[in-house]
Amino acid sequence: MKFFIDTADIAEIRALAATGMVDGVTTNPSLIAKSGRKIAEVIAEICATVPGPVSAEVTAIEAEGMLKEGRYLRAIAHNVAVKVPLTPDGLRACKTLSEEGVMVNVTLCFSPAQALLAAKAGASFISPFVGRLDDIGQDGMGLIAEIVQIYNNYPALKTEVLVASVRHPQHVVAAAKMGADVCTIPPAVLKQLYAHPLTDKGLAAFLADWKKTGQSIL
Ligand code: E4P
Repeated sequence: MKFFIDTADIAEIRALAATGMVDGVTTNPSLIAKSGRKIAEVIAEICATVPGPVSAEVTAIEAEGMLKEGRYLRAIAHNVAVKVPLTPDGLRACKTLSEEGVMVNVTLCFSPAQALLAAKAGASFISPFVGRLDDIGQDGMGLIAEIVQIYNNYPALKTEVLVASVRHPQHVVAAAKMGADVCTIPPAVLKQLYAHPLTDKGLAAFLADWKKTGQSIL
């Protein structure tokens, strides 16, 4: 499963890219707003840092406006994936941009029917938001299971399932068990993936025993 990081914070992206664990980046208008920077500038920097797909979201609500914004964003770098909302206009824009060879990430997906529509519109990625479903008492990961099952029935579909709105490491593990293609992970959650108290305890014990030997490897 590929790991994308869900942030527009370039310092975080640089630090995490250096770990070799990052295959792409997702942003959204809220994350760009949080960065306090111009979208074109921040997307260009992210694209220069991470070679994989970098999602940049349109903010127009009609297809024509989405197409204009999408083409502008795509011109920033070859690895931009234009992100459009799962609306009739978003899917019209998705179909046109996909036919032009642009990667499109269809976002704000909350049902299997929506995921089916995005795949028919030629999306490169579908982004179901698991955390926001959990937040309202629904089963976010259940949605991923349904989408993976549906897409697996049609091997000709090329749309990748990109698990979004991830809140904790259990979402990531469950996504991998289900065979999702990508998980976009907030930096704090990516760091949590490394952690286990027995790793820390075991390492401390090994180092203490090693110190007693008086040896050094080099
Ligand atoms: C995905 O592309 C979105 O940017 C993101 O995962 C939304 O997550 P949130 O529900 O934590 O805002």
